[in-house]
Amino acid sequence: MRLRPMTPDDRDGVHAVYAAGILGGDATFFTRIPERESWWPEWFAARLPFGRVVAEEDGEILGYAGFSPTSSRPFYAGVLEDTVYVAPGAKGRGLGKALLGAALEEADAAGAWLVTGLIFAENRASIRLHESLGFKLFGIRERMGWHEHPAYRRWRDVAILDRRSPRAGLGAEPPDLEALQAKG
Ligand SMILES: CC(C)(COP(=O)(O)OP(=O)(O)OC[C@H]1O[C@@H](n2cnc3c(N)ncnc32)[C@H](O)[C@@H]1OP(=O)(O)O)[C@@H](O)C(=O)NCCC(=O)NCCS
Repeated sequence: MRLRPMTPDDRDGVHAVYAAGILGGDATFFTRIPERESWWPEWFAARLPFGRVVAEEDGEILGYAGFSPTSSRPFYAGVLEDTVYVAPGAKGRGLGKALLGAALEEADAAGAWLVTGLIFAENRASIRLHESLGFKLFGIRERMGWHEHPAYRRWRDVAILDRRSPRAGLGAEPPDLEALQAKG
């Protein structure tokens, strides 16, 4: 298994892992698997260029991680939300931790100072994964949204976990907001 930057050619592998996450019912409020061709350009562009990584084995994408900005306000440019998905057959092998850990390294280097995970309260695997990488439970939003999933059709609580960067945004210097907003 190797980690490498995600490229536009990874569409099918990333889509397959994402689709499995949707069907699993504990990863996202989205319940419909998007149509690959139309979904991909927007999805790819919405993830920041740093920390956009995949795990690959024998040419197969087994997982991915990435970040999106939580706000378009410039002073929050270093406040991000993460995403991390691992293929069902590859869970529990440390891939999620390796992916999100590598992505966080890149976020730190880019100067991002706060990363948040928004996680269904029942998603113990993701909560544990985030905690093991230094995230702390900020709180739980009760019945934050309605989940129209066949197996999970109900209001869902969402746990908010935050990780303040150990490297970025600590000193008296202002952040390099332009670097954080670079597209790619
Ligand atoms: C959440 C997810 C990314 C975890 O990836 P993974 O590769 O299986 O996790 P890892 O093997 O790297 O384990 C990371 C940590 O979580 C723990 N963990 C993993 N699965 C667990 C589970 N089912 N219950 C409790 N802890 C679990 C591991 O023991 C490990 O803890 P440690 O660092 O203290 O040893 C994966 O389950 C997944 O893709 N789920 C579907 C999509 C999803 O929910 N994404 C997150 C949306 S918020």
